Amino acid sequence: MTAEQVPYYPFPSPAALEPPQEWAELRDGCPIAPIRLASGDQALLLTRYDDVKQVLSDPRFTRQLDAPGAARVTANESGGVFGSGGSSSMSGEEHRAWRQLVGKAFTAKRVMAMQPRIEAMAVELVERMAAEGAPADLVGAVGFPLPVRAICDLLGVPGSDREKFAYWSDTMLSMTRFGQEEIDAAQAEFDGYLVALVAAKRAEPGDDLISELLAMVAGLDGRLTEQLMLGTAKGLLVAGHETTANMIGKMVAMLLADRTRWEALLADRTLVRPAVEEALRFDANPGFGMPRYLSEEVEVAGERLPGGTTVICSMASANRDERQFEGAGELRLDRSPNPHVAFGAGPHSCIGQALARTELQTVLKVLLDRLPALELAVPAGELWRREGLIVGGLERVPVRW
Ligand code: HEM
Repeated sequence: MTAEQVPYYPFPSPAALEPPQEWAELRDGCPIAPIRLASGDQALLLTRYDDVKQVLSDPRFTRQLDAPGAARVTANESGGVFGSGGSSSMSGEEHRAWRQLVGKAFTAKRVMAMQPRIEAMAVELVERMAAEGAPADLVGAVGFPLPVRAICDLLGVPGSDREKFAYWSDTMLSMTRFGQEEIDAAQAEFDGYLVALVAAKRAEPGDDLISELLAMVAGLDGRLTEQLMLGTAKGLLVAGHETTANMIGKMVAMLLADRTRWEALLADRTLVRPAVEEALRFDANPGFGMPRYLSEEVEVAGERLPGGTTVICSMASANRDERQFEGAGELRLDRSPNPHVAFGAGPHSCIGQALARTELQTVLKVLLDRLPALELAVPAGELWRREGLIVGGLERVPVRW
């Protein structure tokens, strides 16, 4: 294949909720496919379930995307959504230690205890949207505000500071909405806020993640503790805000695109859990995929990949692989089992997945209860994607009821 024939990635999609046809073609004909990235660099795209899972689980495929020979993912890469500080800039051993520590505090039990509060937040946001009247944009009214409130709750940010916190988060995540000066100012304020929050938790511990982490590292030197808390808090916010916000919009759009799905859910709430998993699997617009840099030669799908190779794992294509999922191209609300890789796999797999699932299930339940007549206010084919970001989403999800 000559350089000119190497296709550009990400591939364009026929419609907001449809996958690009290249995924199926490559799964069948070229499971390790050369691609060209926005930076002009080349990488290899993996599209089959088994290969994606193998690579994400193998520590020889590293996240050292700043290695001299690694492909640059975007024209102005700063590490992507999982890249700005936090866990992804850590090396193997350091990352393992961080994961273990945070895993001990960010438990399923903690998330379960948060559920009633997440439900109250979802009810408040949905009621506010309903009070303002139809049509409304579900992404702006519910999708974006909910995950940041959930993270505030997780970290123990007082309710009175939530709006400030949400503003700082927005400025840090937005690529275009704010000017650089505004972003720098917000960043500095946010750092100052987090330092004060950590000091307040140290003086008066609460039932939150920061207080628990502080108790666990009580012996550690003060400066290190502060760095650890700030890195963790920001890492969770960056990785847990836009991802979940976009997924709320995409999930609701997918379920309303064929309203028999919504009706099936109205008739049987036990479908809420499997429907959330199926929406995660079926998501045709998850963004870029996960890049990995190969530190040494490794065999994948019978092919030897030399050290220095950059691969991109398309979890979304893997999730539609017929070799793994029967009727992969159909959205089945009751699919079981559903071992999708929307949260990744292996040592870096999403540490917030229990929280993400709780948020998605709770939002869906609250919408079914409060707005059973919910429907898309535009044809599904007219929904438009948010372009140029690492995390895929829909620009707006106009709804009425
Ligand atoms: C639907 C929502 C979400 C999706 C689709 C998602 C997806 C992912 C994926 C694919 C990874 C793996 C990255 C890699 O392999 O390099 C990941 C990692 C991560 N996620 Fe999520 N995520 C979601 C929500 C959340 C939430 C709510 C939080 C926390 C509040 C969170 C925190 C993290 C963190 C900290 C990592 C890095 C873990 C590590 O480096 O070990 N995510 N996420």
